[in-house]
Amino acid sequence: MSLISPAVSAPPPAAAAAGKRARVLVIGNEKGGSGKSTVAMHLVVGFLRAGFKVGSLDLDVRQASLTRYLENRAAFAAGRGVPLPMPTHRRGPNPVTPADATAEVAALTQGHDLVIVDTPGRVDDVSMAVHVLADVIVTPVGESHLDLDLIGAINRRRDRAVKPGPYAEFVWSVRQQRARAGLPPSDWFVCHNRRRQPETRVGREVGRALADLASRFAFKLIPGFSERTIFQELFPDGLTLLDLREAETGVGLTMSHVAARAEIRRMVEALSPAGTFTL
Ligand SMILES: Nc1ncnc2c1ncn2[C@@H]1O[C@H](COP(=O)(O)OP(=O)(O)O)[C@@H](O)[C@H]1O
Ligand SMILES: [Mg+2]
Repeated sequence: MSLISPAVSAPPPAAAAAGKRARVLVIGNEKGGSGKSTVAMHLVVGFLRAGFKVGSLDLDVRQASLTRYLENRAAFAAGRGVPLPMPTHRRGPNPVTPADATAEVAALTQGHDLVIVDTPGRVDDVSMAVHVLADVIVTPVGESHLDLDLIGAINRRRDRAVKPGPYAEFVWSVRQQRARAGLPPSDWFVCHNRRRQPETRVGREVGRALADLASRFAFKLIPGFSERTIFQELFPDGLTLLDLREAETGVGLTMSHVAARAEIRRMVEALSPAGTFTL
């Protein structure tokens, strides 16, 4: 009995076929553990299943979590004989230079609709080079005041952001560099990620501060993933919830799994080029 859904759910969009340049989506935040690699993997599979031709690039060349996740996926697919959708994946050389990063992105933009780049939790020349290439920056922010502080510092009453944090300033300098290069501004999406259920006081405060920061620092706040063990469980098999076939999972998907799947779809839809597909 197959637990796995091999099908791609929508016809491919026309961008790759029409020879248009792929959109470059960079997952970035200088905080480790905010869920960047987990979000990257779920977006890769989400966009593949929506019919997009996806290239993926791992610039966290030391940890290489996205690469390991995809290796596990390839091994699982080969072992079970299930044709799971796969991106064209590249891992930057170790050590990686800004020129390497730029060349890797350029290689992947050929023949794909979308290039998804996972980055390490730090800001350096490589990170700057790839952020400057981003049409879309996606920043998962973990549900903690320490994580929030990298986006913006809040006042003592905890209801307003008072100044940009280091990563917001970094994105600001990325935008200035793009403007100097004559490139259109990148869209910046921030997601309130690893949200605890039921809601906590810190969760409420982080959510409120992010909403306040959004208008002032020109990012769009989108829903992230809740904190759920299912997001950790599927890594050894390289699977995501979008790969599991509801009717054939034996024990059945729990409500939590169904909700997690909806969260992934919501994020893919929020990031997809306006109205080109529905999941
Ligand atoms: N939504 C989530 N729910 C539960 N655990 C998560 C979630 N997102 C990430 N994790 C776990 O948190 C840790 C850090 O996630 P990871 O994606 O590697 O973050 P980053 O790439 O930003 O360092 C990993 O153990 C991962 O499995
Ligand atoms: Mg990572």
